[in-house]
Amino acid sequence: MAFSLAEMIAARHSEQYSLHERYINPSLARVQGIIGFDKIYARGEGAYLWDVDGNRYLDLLAGYSVFNLGRGHPTIRRAIEETLALERPNLVKMDCPLLAGLLAEALVKRMPPGLDAVFFANSGADAVDTAIKFARGATRRPRVLYLDHAFHGLTLGTLSINGGSAFRDGFGPLLPGFDMVAMNDLKALERELRKGDVAAFIVEPIQGKGVYIPADDYLPGAQNLCRQYGTLLICDEVQAGMGRTGRFLSCEHWHVEPDLVTLSKSLSGGYVPVSAVIMRRKVHDGVFSKLDRCQVHSTTFGQNELAMAAGLATLHVMEEERLIERAASVGEKLLLGLSALKERHEMIADVRGKGLMIGIEFQPPRSLTLRAAWAAAETAQKGLFTQLVVMALMRDHRILTQVGGPGVNIVKLLPPLIIGDEEVQVIVAAFDAVMAEATHVGGRVWGLSGQLVKHALSQPAR
Ligand SMILES: Cc1ncc(COP(=O)(O)O)c(C=O)c1O
Repeated sequence: MAFSLAEMIAARHSEQYSLHERYINPSLARVQGIIGFDKIYARGEGAYLWDVDGNRYLDLLAGYSVFNLGRGHPTIRRAIEETLALERPNLVKMDCPLLAGLLAEALVKRMPPGLDAVFFANSGADAVDTAIKFARGATRRPRVLYLDHAFHGLTLGTLSINGGSAFRDGFGPLLPGFDMVAMNDLKALERELRKGDVAAFIVEPIQGKGVYIPADDYLPGAQNLCRQYGTLLICDEVQAGMGRTGRFLSCEHWHVEPDLVTLSKSLSGGYVPVSAVIMRRKVHDGVFSKLDRCQVHSTTFGQNELAMAAGLATLHVMEEERLIERAASVGEKLLLGLSALKERHEMIADVRGKGLMIGIEFQPPRSLTLRAAWAAAETAQKGLFTQLVVMALMRDHRILTQVGGPGVNIVKLLPPLIIGDEEVQVIVAAFDAVMAEATHVGGRVWGLSGQLVKHALSQPAR
């Protein structure tokens, strides 16, 4: 019998959650059920998903910023189809493939001055691990500094620079000499740098977990200190890069010129895992320092033709559709619309962001009955109120969002950069309606909490 993916999907789509419960991650499958996210999506296009019953959902996660161009972009699809049709000689390994060279050239053109050497990897964490390793190799120093609240991935290397306990707990010991500093504290940073043993200081210029934005003088000041003490500055642009914040790199908001940059997520338009580290030539040469070290760092699928073709097509589409400018202008409207809700809804503490990377933070209400409901929810599990908002957005408005990090009362919005005025209005109206509903303790939003509290309390204490 011939292999048919379409037939396989049609025959077995109803088993998707039970297969995961059985073979992959039962906890995750259960959580999707508890929060009402156990949909069976059948199709994705642009900023929308459709389930098997034909219901449409507005996707404000974009695969954690993988689909900046929207899902199923025809140009990226064509590039991939063309790569297959051309029967490109993929992964020969003992050659220097053209498409990797072309994509490296195209990326270097979009970098701050001096970043002119590229290493291709497969995921965000892979790129960050590479950047740290290269910084150590080039400086011959052991230590790495990172920020509180930082998120750079979940491999052992990137976990060692994770700025919160939720992901780290239970996996130690992590790498020695990797130390956290507080954002916006240049004195603390200098105290560490002065020791002269720090290879790299790594930052997300805008932090993904919580959408924390540094004070305007912080990153330029950190850059100056790094230069003064011979430490390399790594900007992790895996999530905030590729136009998301209204600049190609988010560090451009502060005219920062890092020594290494990491990119991933939407670099391939969402189709193929890919990442890149773009760095100063002297950093690269410090690693590949002799002919017999020319493969001292590599990864099997790096430079694969599908990823490189998709990357080239993605950069083309970003320019042709002016997606960076679009992220800036649509993001400003969305930020304005959501900020206006702060005046009307006391539980909205803050709305912040740049471009289409936006965080909405909640705070305890003032009225006594609401305060009691909030306290009960937060005692059961920190960040539970935000989970209620996320669930209500899904149930009542078919909008896909997520709590912006472990234990925080922040929703993060990462819509595809192609959204327009229509989506801005829908998002603002949906938040307005959910927050209005959340003022009634017996209403539809708080009504979701019983189930959540029950499950939160049944979690083992950590
Ligand atoms: C800033 C940042 N760096 C690194 C990573 C890790 O990327 P990946 O999940 O592809 O390993 C992420 C993932 O969300 C990220 O946001």
